[in-house]
Amino acid sequence: MSQQANEKRSGQVFWESPANIALVKYWGKLQGQIPMNPSLSFTLRESVVRIAMHYEKVGRGAGGLRTFRLNGQLNEKFQLRIGKYIESMKAHFAFLDNTALDIESKSTFPHSAGIASSAAAFSALAMALGSIENELAGREGKGSDFLQKASFAARLGSGSACRSVYGGFTVWGKSQHLEESSDDYAIKLHDADVHPVFRNLHDAVLIVDDTEKKVSSTAGHALMNGHDFRESRIAQAENNLGTMLQALKTGDEKIFVDIVENEALTLHGLMMSSRPGYILIKPGTIILIEKIRNFREKNNINLCFTLDAGPNIHLIYMDKDAEKVRSFIRQELLPLCKNGHWVDDGVGSGPIQKQIE
Ligand code: PMV
Repeated sequence: MSQQANEKRSGQVFWESPANIALVKYWGKLQGQIPMNPSLSFTLRESVVRIAMHYEKVGRGAGGLRTFRLNGQLNEKFQLRIGKYIESMKAHFAFLDNTALDIESKSTFPHSAGIASSAAAFSALAMALGSIENELAGREGKGSDFLQKASFAARLGSGSACRSVYGGFTVWGKSQHLEESSDDYAIKLHDADVHPVFRNLHDAVLIVDDTEKKVSSTAGHALMNGHDFRESRIAQAENNLGTMLQALKTGDEKIFVDIVENEALTLHGLMMSSRPGYILIKPGTIILIEKIRNFREKNNINLCFTLDAGPNIHLIYMDKDAEKVRSFIRQELLPLCKNGHWVDDGVGSGPIQKQIE
């Protein structure tokens, strides 16, 4: 440890981190935020959270979150959730015991876009904790150990956040199809395992409804415990992951489309068949799905939809089809979106160190 590192008593780190969209869904968890099944996602480009984390050495045992500001305002709800998270991180980042944090956060998510921002937020927080740990230890570098720890720490904030610390395609959850996979953190797929046709996928997030959903993901995960289809879902996800990995590698667009839509409809089927069952999709969701499927059939273009735990459609399409699909979006889909609202997103390259503006 260098002399300078020993003397460092305060400082500030900045991170910008994106959300991700799952193609094979994580749904259901075990004790300790361990996923019931493996999942696969790609990291987005436009939907990001930026944070500035200021740290200052304080007395032993006096460390923790001091203030949390969202878009310049103190925010009690987040202060509470993030305060608890930082508390839980003391077991993994020893410096937190005697370090106070003041966090400033900004989200570039269009207002009420219906895209979960927790993956972006918790991955940014985890990257920042890792950076401070490095600074205090006089270490440099953001290699694979750094990212693995950040992914591990992000997972404990919000499961799917662990997939946001890498750009491109990531897998979280132990699978027989991927030797390096783990329940504790996500791993990034190598470029060689992703065919060029999928490397620059687009994701048009079509807003059907932007009101807050009635059943949270936390409650939804919990309902998987006694679910009638629990075991078959676990087996299905494992199979779908294996088939998806193969399709991604070989560039098989048809299988890709099949799996993505099967996973989206399964997720919502599982919600509907929970006890009690609930429905998050809206009539507008179904209308958009029909339009998308008709367009695919008529034009022989392999676009597909997926859904998060909400009613909004993620329309996934290949870069080579972008021109045709964009005019379809503009002419036929945007008139059906709430206030014509959508987000033009796609595969991104992961978190970056960037000052908050
Ligand atoms: O990370 P959580 O607890 O918000 O759960 C996310 C679950 C889904 O978005 C529905 C699927 C996924 O794999 O991201």
